[in-house]
Formats: sequence, C-alpha cells, structure tokens
Amino acid sequence: MLRHDLLIVGGGLAGLSAALGADPTLKVGVISKVHPLRSHSVAAQGGINAALANRPDCADDTCEKHAFDTIKGSDYLADQDAAELLCQRAIPTIYELDHWGAPFSRFPDGSIAQRPFGGAGFPRTCYAADRTGHILLHTLYEQAVRRNVTFYDEWLVTDIIVRDRRLVGLVAYDLAGGEIIPLRARAVIFATGGYGRIFFRSTNAYINLGGGIGMAYKAGVPLKDMEFVQFHPTTLFGKNILMTEAARGEGGYLVNAKGRRFMEDYTPKAMELAPRDIVARSIQTEIDKGNGFENEYVHLDLRHLGREKILQRLPGIRDICIHFAGLDPVDRPIPIQPAQHYSMGGIDVDATCASPVEGFFAAGECACVSVHGANRLGGNSLLESIVFGRIAGESASLYLRGGPSEAGGDRETAETARALMARIQSVHEREAGENVFQLLNKLKRVMSDTAGIFRDAATLRRGLEELAVLREAYRRVFIYGPCGRYCQEMVVLVEFEHMMEVAEVILLGALKREETRGSHFRTDFPKRDDASWLKHTIITRSDKGPVVTYRDLQVGRYAPEERKY
Ligand code: FUM
Repeated sequence: MLRHDLLIVGGGLAGLSAALGADPTLKVGVISKVHPLRSHSVAAQGGINAALANRPDCADDTCEKHAFDTIKGSDYLADQDAAELLCQRAIPTIYELDHWGAPFSRFPDGSIAQRPFGGAGFPRTCYAADRTGHILLHTLYEQAVRRNVTFYDEWLVTDIIVRDRRLVGLVAYDLAGGEIIPLRARAVIFATGGYGRIFFRSTNAYINLGGGIGMAYKAGVPLKDMEFVQFHPTTLFGKNILMTEAARGEGGYLVNAKGRRFMEDYTPKAMELAPRDIVARSIQTEIDKGNGFENEYVHLDLRHLGREKILQRLPGIRDICIHFAGLDPVDRPIPIQPAQHYSMGGIDVDATCASPVEGFFAAGECACVSVHGANRLGGNSLLESIVFGRIAGESASLYLRGGPSEAGGDRETAETARALMARIQSVHEREAGENVFQLLNKLKRVMSDTAGIFRDAATLRRGLEELAVLREAYRRVFIYGPCGRYCQEMVVLVEFEHMMEVAEVILLGALKREETRGSHFRTDFPKRDDASWLKHTIITRSDKGPVVTYRDLQVGRYAPEERKY
C-alpha cells in the first residue's frame, strides 16, 4: 500500500500552497485528477486582493478596510476573525508571489498594478492582465517542483475512509492505468475545488463536479453554509465563459436592450461595481422584466475603453469573444448573462483548516472557513486559496509533529478499494440501464431551475423531489460506450454519487434558511433576518439522512448593518 505522511488532494492553488506550507521533512504527495497546471485555478482572470495601496487613489487603504469590505460583502455572515486573518496575510502573500517571479502587471513606477473590483472601497485587486490565475498557478507549481513534491497526476480520489472520527485512508482510481489504488496517510488535506458543474450554466471547468465535497460528506464530515451559491454577473451568453469583473473594474458598462446603464436603478453609487450577488440579481431582474436582448442577456460594453486599453488589460477577454462569440469587444458590446461561478459553502473547517474529523483538513473552494459568508467579493478567492492552503499545510504539519498514534486502517482501506473494484465490475456487466451523462444533464437542470439566483420553498422542495427520482435512476446506471483509459463516463459515474449529496445539501440548506442573505435570495422571505439567521448552517450525513444544525458565527468589531452601495 502506498504510504505518505501527508496527502493533498487537488493540484490547484490551494493544494500547491498547502504543499509549500507543509514541513519539508515530511513525505508529502499531491494527488490530482488532472495535471496540476490544468486545475481550474488556471482559469481565474481578474485578480487577487491585497491592500498594497499602490495607487494615489488608494493610498489610505489598509488590511482593516479590506477586512471590513469582505465582511460587509459577505452580508455579515463571514467569521470576522477569519476574514481579518485573510486580509492581514494578503500583503505578505503578494510580495512572496512577486519574489517567486509571478509576473504581475505594473504601474509606470514599477509597483504592482491594482484595479477596482466590486464591493471594494479602494482599487486593491492586483493582476496580470486578465490571466491572473494562470500566472499564479505556474508560479506555485514551479516552487512545488523545486521542493521535489511528489505528484500523482490523473488520479481520481474516490473515497476517504474514516474510523472513529479519524481519517485512516484513501482510495484512488488511476485514470491512465485503470487501476484502483489504496493509499494511507497520517494526514490528508482536501483542496478539490468547487461543484459548479452541477448547475446548467457555470463558469467552471468540466472537472468541477464537487466530488471532494460530496465524498467528505459521505464519510461523515459536516458541510457548512452550502446554500450560498455565487452566480457571476457577467458570463458570455450561451457559453458561460467568464467575462471577468475586471472588465467592469476597468470601466465597462452594463447596458439593457433599452440602451440604459440600468445599474443606476439598483446601486446608483457603486453602479457596475456593486458586489456580485447584487449585480447578478439586477441583471436577472432586467432580463425577467423584458429589458434584456431576446429575453436572455444584456450587454457588457467596453467600446468606450478604447482598443489600446482593451488589448493591454483585457487581452484574454478579447480573445475569448473573438473565438467563442465571433465578435471583437473593441467594436461590439459583449452579450452576457449570469451563471454559477463559486461556492461560498463547503467542508466545515476552522481557521486552521481543521475539520471535525481528526487528521482531515480542507482549503480553498471546497472548504468553508468561513471568510466569504453569504457572498464572496471578487479577487478574494485566489487570495483565500493561497492563504488558507498555506495554513492547511502548516496545520497538518503541526498535527503530525504532535505524533498522532498509528491509527491502523490498512484493512478498511483495502476493503474499500475492493468494493469500488466490484462496483465498477458490476456496472460493466450490466447490458442496459441509465446513461450517467443524461442523469448529469438532468441534475444540472434541476439545480438551475430550483436553486438559482431566485429561490422559494416551492422550487426548493421540487428540487429535492426531483433529486430523489435521480437517485433511484442512478441505481440502474451502466456504461454506455467502450471504457478503457481516461474513461470520462466512469469518472462521472463515480463522481455522480457525490454530486447528488452536494445537490441535496444545497437544496436542503436553502429550504431551511427562511431569509434572504447575500447570494441566497428567497422570494418568499425577501429580507435579511439577523434576529433568527445570523448563524452558519451545518449539515451532517447520518444513516437516517441529512441532519441540519446551526452554529453561531464569530462577530467581531463590525456590527451587522444593512448593506448599501
Ligand atoms: O471576474 C473575475 O475575474 C473573477 C474573479 C473571482 O472570482 O475572484
């Protein structure tokens, strides 16, 4: 059996940062279902926040102001101590990345360039044109290679094994070799990313199926605040490729079919740079009112920025528009619509990234610390992944230094591997049944139709009912085509079980939370209700089904007040 001190699952920014935060004397491995440089972090565009105060108009910026904006943006659901920690660590994090050679865009004086983003009191988003995730992922990967971290690429982790609330092992499926591999580690960090692809429209990569979150839940690890799903306001109509918030940060307008900059009606002060939940709702409201084009989209207009600025600051956006929409934003407005983008909720961890299961840690989008509360500000996700990835690596190392006793677990791990093998075998033997890709499409429809930007009790109940039907159908799933190396059908088949768990927890958390807060807009409870709901939703799996409990959040120096922009 393959053994490590620490295994990190996920090779994106959070996973690589965890590997760099780990004690170098430990035997550390990173397992990733794709090559790390193909992780979804690579698609991040607009930037990473830190109060560097590099522009004359942000000279007064501070970590405290960054923390305040983050907490206000979260609709006061973030744990304030954790949000403060995030913002304090932001500045040294950016300079460390800079010293490692990350090619940030620069101001003429040589300092790192910063641009405005939504919900931020100052322009504090550092960037590399509109390819920030790309450069940061390469920077961290170089450092991990330099440290001789062991990588297991194209391995899909399918199960974690927990005994007496302690993690004892993992099972992985080698996508290239088709082999099932049992693994033991004294500590495990999940950095498996989000679940965007359970929604019909999402900016997420096809790999973002949420398997890590569902797998942890299935093994008894609680999930936190899963009802908070972020919908990005601006994604390319029909394709849902991200059209970065930086396009509005650089001065882009949102315009409806009547030719109006309609954000004037919603957030007249912040205009297009209100937080994402508000801008996404405003766009959807315009479309629902009949003010969209073809009842489906509005325009993101960059033409007034001029060719030079677009080519310099938003070259990736321009390329995407040319290749995927056949238009050049220098000359024509971009048709956009909101789509799922990010998960504020995730595996329940504290500010050390420790979960309630001993030896099991999580960081990045799959985890909920919580620093984003009910709505994440743009530019805080790359930051969270790198800061809390590092913290997870440090915490797991500290845990291992404490010398946890040998947990045993070889037998359970080997049994789980054998059970997976038998399951795959039996699916192969079926001659007819349900096609998992069709089930996946149905699941996406269910989630988009019932747990979208606007929800109510009726849609959410319907979502749960439709999910139960899908669960039944999943029992009859079979492999449609020939399935050898890199069998995507098998990947989805294995992950679909976890996706259904994720979907159920989102729907249930959303149904129970009878208020509107941040991204969670209940049309039947359209007001925020601090008296009843200033608390985190915790959902744990039991033999009888999901158990919903609540936990008070950490409120510090910023008293909750109505958000105005
Ligand atoms: O719009 C964007 O560039 C996305 C940034 C983010 O999600 O933080």
